[in-house]
Amino acid sequence: MRLLVTGGAGFIGKNFIRLVHELRPAWRVTNLDALTYAASLCGLPDDSERYRFVRGDIRDPKAAAWAMEEQSAVVHFAAESHVDRSILSSGEFVSTNVLGTQVLLDTARRLGVPTFIQVSTDEVYGSLGVADPPFREDTPLAPRSPYAATKAAADLLVRSYHETHDMDVRITRCSNNYGPYQFPEKLLPLSIVNALHGRRIPIYGDGRQRRDWIHVKDHCRAILTVLENGQPGEVYNIGAEQETENLAAVRAVLRETGASEDLIRFVSDRPGHDRRYAMDASKIRKELDWEPRYRFDEGLAQTVAWYQANESWWRPLLGEDYQAYYQTQYGAR
Ligand code: NAD
Ligand code: TYD
Repeated sequence: MRLLVTGGAGFIGKNFIRLVHELRPAWRVTNLDALTYAASLCGLPDDSERYRFVRGDIRDPKAAAWAMEEQSAVVHFAAESHVDRSILSSGEFVSTNVLGTQVLLDTARRLGVPTFIQVSTDEVYGSLGVADPPFREDTPLAPRSPYAATKAAADLLVRSYHETHDMDVRITRCSNNYGPYQFPEKLLPLSIVNALHGRRIPIYGDGRQRRDWIHVKDHCRAILTVLENGQPGEVYNIGAEQETENLAAVRAVLRETGASEDLIRFVSDRPGHDRRYAMDASKIRKELDWEPRYRFDEGLAQTVAWYQANESWWRPLLGEDYQAYYQTQYGAR
């Protein structure tokens, strides 16, 4: 197997490359990544026969073709991924998430790459009420943030290449991930890092929004399963079916770090804030025999321990650009 991973210097792509290295030592992996603010090469292997890094933009057809030559499959992670940034400005989201996906699809088609996996999100389905059943693969797409809208647009493009060009594409849609190497802008890594250096933790609105947290390793094992055993044209929902309110998740972080609950600060709500996501993952469980291994409390404790032991990874990320973003995002709230 020769695998092109896009966005492999980001949180989930990096964990995926590490898992493939561990479980499939004979595979060769190419990582195409533009190295945006969310990326770091730390934690990735050195270049070797088994691994090569290509710095390039998925929107650049030449870079895409160079990286995709003679690959057996593409696993497409590269994206602008943070909802709050898409609210501040959505241009890069449309450009990378939609146009970038189109460039990759056209390149894969032209070069005859056999399989294309689109790594997507539960957010394309929109928001659930408290009593609604979880999202299924046939739940209509109803994205509510610019980020989710661009992921839904990309998913539809991917599906169209299956219908129109008979390409073997497969779409995975996963719930909120947590684990090592997550940039400290999303709720859990931001809470952990703030708790570890005594900074206040912003909770949007009443903090009663619910997310179905899944450990990144469980997500990566699910993607590997879809790559090896999934069916062309199919969508697979992935989730751990462990819904937790934001406030409860942050309190768990405070307990694990030993920080005070006084750090919690309720701030004004996110515009268009999705109240609840929940996944029905019975299709991948039944058809592909996958199931999550991490319970949220165990996975979170391990993740907090990882951030405690790896300050040398996250501390350098909190430079000028990060502080400027933080000020824009939280300063006026
Ligand atoms: P991330 O923001 O941590 O990493 C994104 C990576 O993509 C970075 O390394 C960045 O440099 C790269 N990238 C961005 N624009 C690029 C471009 N134009 N060309 C090449 N590389 C580019 O994101 P993540 O959390 O690892 O998410 C990865 C994928 O998984 C995304 O497609 C996201 O929509 C999806 N997803 C994420 C979650 C989650 O909870 N984080 C849940 C479900 C699905
Ligand atoms: P986030 O990690 O940004 O993921 P998503 O928006 O993709 O679900 O946010 C998770 C939840 O936490 C979401 O309900 C928004 C909320 N949140 C806060 O309350 N405070 C914060 O500082 C952040 C970043 C998120």
